[in-house]
Amino acid sequence: MSLGNTLKSSIGAKVLMAVTGILLILFVIGHMLGNLQVFLGPEKLNSYAQTLQDLGPLLWVIRIGLLAILLLHIYAAITVVKMSKAARPVDYQQRKDLATSFAARTMLVSGLLLVVFIVFHILHFTVGAIDLAGSTGFETEDGHKDVYSMVVVGFQHMPTTAIYILGMLILCLHLSHGVSSLMQTLGFRNASNASTIDKVGPAFGVFIFVGNVSMPLAAITGIIS
Ligand code: HEM
Repeated sequence: MSLGNTLKSSIGAKVLMAVTGILLILFVIGHMLGNLQVFLGPEKLNSYAQTLQDLGPLLWVIRIGLLAILLLHIYAAITVVKMSKAARPVDYQQRKDLATSFAARTMLVSGLLLVVFIVFHILHFTVGAIDLAGSTGFETEDGHKDVYSMVVVGFQHMPTTAIYILGMLILCLHLSHGVSSLMQTLGFRNASNASTIDKVGPAFGVFIFVGNVSMPLAAITGIIS
């Protein structure tokens, strides 16, 4: 079977969704660990941000790569949904999906809302086009972007913090099913470890939620300023 045909098969699309999901998860972990340097003070966070900026053209290669991975993930998700609909042309009279979790049933909606969050987030911190808190435009003494002040001032603004907490709740929901599901797709789940694998996703979702939400909460409560 050619690669094109494999991707059009249900299992091929699921594997594509799992592999791109892992790459996006690696980004989410790396991004969170990088951002958590806000707790180490302005010098640490700003020099980390400057190191990324100094990557120059390579930063653009990474950005375009990430965007391509995200688009492939969405394409795979749409293919899987279409195929499962085609395999069951007449919808159940009464949907019997009570056994599946809320997170599993809302994957498409949570995924779409995450795209909205990511667009908002880039317009907020990277571009500065949505600046509800007046947090962009700060500069360090050596004339570089002061990411520390941007993050702290941005999150001292209640509506902004509320949007981020909501975004992280949606991310947590998406990951809590996505991580367990990708482990099943890649063949790691079997009868003996099923209940453990089913807990890995929710545990990972909570881990990312707590790590990311700690930053807006620390700013709004004055723990970082
Ligand atoms: C509270 C949690 C988060 C904080 C504090 C945060 C912080 C930041 C900051 C400061 C930037 C801009 C860096 C700069 O302009 O120098 C940024 C960019 C970005 N963030 Fe986040 N972020 C958070 C959550 C997320 C999440 C959950 C995602 C994805 C699911 C994400 C995806 C991105 C992307 C794609 C960029 C653009 C990177 C680029 O093109 O340079 N962020 N984030």
